[in-house]
Amino acid sequence: MSQLDKPQRPPMIDFNGVCFSKYFTENWDKVQNFTARPEDILIATYPKAGTTWVSFIIDSLYFDQTCPERSMSVPLTQRVPFLDIAVPSQPSGTELADQFKTSPRLIKSHLPVQFVPKSFWENNCRIVYVARNAKDSAVSYFHFTRMNFAQPDPGDWSTYLKSFMNGKVVFGSWYDHVNNWWKRKEIYERIHFMFYEDLIEDTLQEIRKLCDFLGLSPSAEELEKIKAAAMFDNMRQNKMISYSTAKMMDQKVSPFLRKGKVGDWRNHFTVSQNEEFDEDYKQKMKGSELFFRTEV
Ligand code: A3P
Repeated sequence: MSQLDKPQRPPMIDFNGVCFSKYFTENWDKVQNFTARPEDILIATYPKAGTTWVSFIIDSLYFDQTCPERSMSVPLTQRVPFLDIAVPSQPSGTELADQFKTSPRLIKSHLPVQFVPKSFWENNCRIVYVARNAKDSAVSYFHFTRMNFAQPDPGDWSTYLKSFMNGKVVFGSWYDHVNNWWKRKEIYERIHFMFYEDLIEDTLQEIRKLCDFLGLSPSAEELEKIKAAAMFDNMRQNKMISYSTAKMMDQKVSPFLRKGKVGDWRNHFTVSQNEEFDEDYKQKMKGSELFFRTEV
């Protein structure tokens, strides 16, 4: 992408007390009034927690056997609509989801829990929430924001890190997002909480737990096949997953599937940034039951 073709980045908007950009607010009413179906599965995450990874795994679990051509010819973005998004000259997430005839529909969302359309709760839909430690999330989100011109300008790393800590990034505060989703488990049973770090450490075990939650019992051979296809290098080479044709993304700036590791934050945080982050983290996560690993 040359300097001249680069799309204009949108400004950040404070909307209902959370930071968004216009691509996530312009379709707000339709998102809020979206009609979920009881068999829908919502894949909810704070950005960069491994949404694509888990979406690919769940899609493979449901459709690899019955519809193998789907994974070869349909981009993951069309198999798993991104509910919240509406960018020019593309169907919005709600339009895409509404067109779906297959069941279950897999639907991705980065919305903070208080903004999830009420029809998901009313229909008792299953929800898979994926969480990733804050430091690696910040690093991954920084690089994603650099390469994705649909995102507001990230500034340099130290500016971005401050924005992240202050919740001044699209979809707001990581701390609020993970804590409020975690608390929702107390009143809504059908949420399966997953951690990116666990998936890295033992992918097969995490896929098995996911199957238990979804009520699926694939054969050992199918499981192995899905696990192999879901390995970072294999997903990276899969053109149906890697956002290779997304116009707003410049993969030369940073690839969408970038490193796929736990602990890359060490290559970004200075000693003083790390100290400041840890201090602030303690305050913001006070009383939280959530524990994240920053190494595996
Ligand atoms: P990095 O930027 O740290 O590499 P999301 O899909 O929520 O946007 O998350 C993207 C992050 O998940 C990226 O992190 C990406 O590389 C990582 N990821 C995607 N598929 C993966 C896989 N198969 N194994 C490990 N990490 C993966």
